[in-house]
Amino acid sequence: MVTRVGHIALHVADLDRAVDFQQQVIGMVETERAAGVSYLTCNDRHHELILVEDRINRGYEHLAMEVADAAALEGAARRLQASGGTLLGGIYDGEPGIDRALKVQSPNGHVYKLFCGMETVDAPPPGDRAEKFEHISTKVRNMRAEERFLREGLGFRFSDRMGFLASWWHCDEDHHGLALTLAPRPELSHYAYTWPDFGSLGRTADRVLAARGRKCIWGPSRHGPGNNHFLYFHDEDGAMIECCSELAQMQADGYQPRTWSMHPKTINQWGSAPPLRFLLTGFPIAEPTPGRPSWAMAPGRSLEAVR
Ligand SMILES: [Fe+2]
Repeated sequence: MVTRVGHIALHVADLDRAVDFQQQVIGMVETERAAGVSYLTCNDRHHELILVEDRINRGYEHLAMEVADAAALEGAARRLQASGGTLLGGIYDGEPGIDRALKVQSPNGHVYKLFCGMETVDAPPPGDRAEKFEHISTKVRNMRAEERFLREGLGFRFSDRMGFLASWWHCDEDHHGLALTLAPRPELSHYAYTWPDFGSLGRTADRVLAARGRKCIWGPSRHGPGNNHFLYFHDEDGAMIECCSELAQMQADGYQPRTWSMHPKTINQWGSAPPLRFLLTGFPIAEPTPGRPSWAMAPGRSLEAVR
């Protein structure tokens, strides 16, 4: 049912600083700003990232998944509920850049937004920027329930598994659009952008240092599942970004789903085990709001309007 991974919406403490970081490091451009919300892209889609200014409620607002059209959205509700999801209101419209959407909470409490009708914009000029928003990795307490929701509710297909600790799922040619990791509490592990090649990851690490004087967390190196290059660092508000290149393509590469051993080499083909900063980073789930959030429509957003 889901045809591609859309974007993520993150609460940020200082909208200008968060936008500046995404512009300088990732190469994002702002396509629209309204009511304390910034819509950013790196290609011809209206947005690949949403930043919501909120100095109080730290966390992510939703994980957005695209479906084909309005009919697919209308057909989704029963399937989402039957697979353990809880609807957060009905189908709504009015959000900038998209036609309509439906929000649902997964069995582990993660908040997904299914949407259709992404608007297009003039693509930014060629430059050292990400190609697209690629995947999202979440931490969950109940793997079995979340996997059922991904498979039967969202329509994702199995890609790889590492013992009982992690699994990777795809909805299109990319090896994974969603990944799950077993953890004590449900949080966002990281969100990821696609980059053209390994060299662009090095230049991104340079920009993290130049823009904020910060070190990266892990990488660059190569994962086993997905066979992609990776580089991890924190964004302006402490959510973890992964930059990827050479992510396996399921059909084109003839990728065979498999179960990997729970060994550090599985997730780092070249080097050492992940550092504690990687393992312990988690960005919380912001208080879920039902569909048609007030901030999306309000002419002058206030914190009261968000809550
Ligand atoms: Fe990842």
